[in-house]
Amino acid sequence: MAVGVFDSGLGGLTVLDAVTKRLPDVPFVYYGDNLHAPYGVRDADDVYNLTTKAVERLWDAGCDLVILACNTASAAALKRMQENWIPADKRVLGVFVPLIEALTEREWGDNSPPREVAVKHVALFATPATVSSRAFQRELAFRAVGVDVEAQPCGGLVDAIEQGDEILAEALVRSHVEALLRRMPKPEAAILGCTHYPLMETVFQEALGENVSVYSQANLVAESLADYLERHPDMLGAGTESMFLTTGDPKTVSNKATQFLRRRIEFQSA
Ligand code: SIN
Repeated sequence: MAVGVFDSGLGGLTVLDAVTKRLPDVPFVYYGDNLHAPYGVRDADDVYNLTTKAVERLWDAGCDLVILACNTASAAALKRMQENWIPADKRVLGVFVPLIEALTEREWGDNSPPREVAVKHVALFATPATVSSRAFQRELAFRAVGVDVEAQPCGGLVDAIEQGDEILAEALVRSHVEALLRRMPKPEAAILGCTHYPLMETVFQEALGENVSVYSQANLVAESLADYLERHPDMLGAGTESMFLTTGDPKTVSNKATQFLRRRIEFQSA
């Protein structure tokens, strides 16, 4: 049995890279819904329908445990899926909780009541759909009190990164950071709340200044997955080969993915 990693497109490869480094012996099935990317500009019902379809495909491929690497899907669909859709023998995990646990300095799975934490001003950079879901603020409120979150919807940034347009992507990061800093001049921490944004982390850090701690998810998700699998070894059975699925054109997506990660990746049709 492999672990499923779902993303709207290529951004989830940043998460996949971190988890395969942390768990080199675990096989993964990656599913990129390139045909429908980006999700960040879609409404919540649309994101829910696309995400459930992808997760079903990963279950069919033998992945009882699926990670929604896509922040937009974690924000707009995961809660609804967990309420009434996921069968008892399957698990679907999102990407917000590991990050919020790190931000609030909590142990993995610590469910004690919310408390005061060191960080007071947090800048959140995410897609318009993630920002409007307020899922980050909701999860944070379960764990911390007195934290002010200022969210910046980063319109256009996913597209620019997927297209490999570095000049446009850099200009967009700088203008989104400037817009946020006008509303919150001194954040102590900044969250890169989209799988694509770690590829622009240096530009975010430069634009925010060295006093701001920038959090991105890939390593935190990898660590929390390793913890989870240690506690639930039953979610992994006999190994299969890792594979990459896409709803887009496999050849085009393989070429883009190879450019994106700077190593050869072969996708097949989902
Ligand atoms: C998108 O599909 O718009 C970006 C993926 C994400 O939110 O992580």
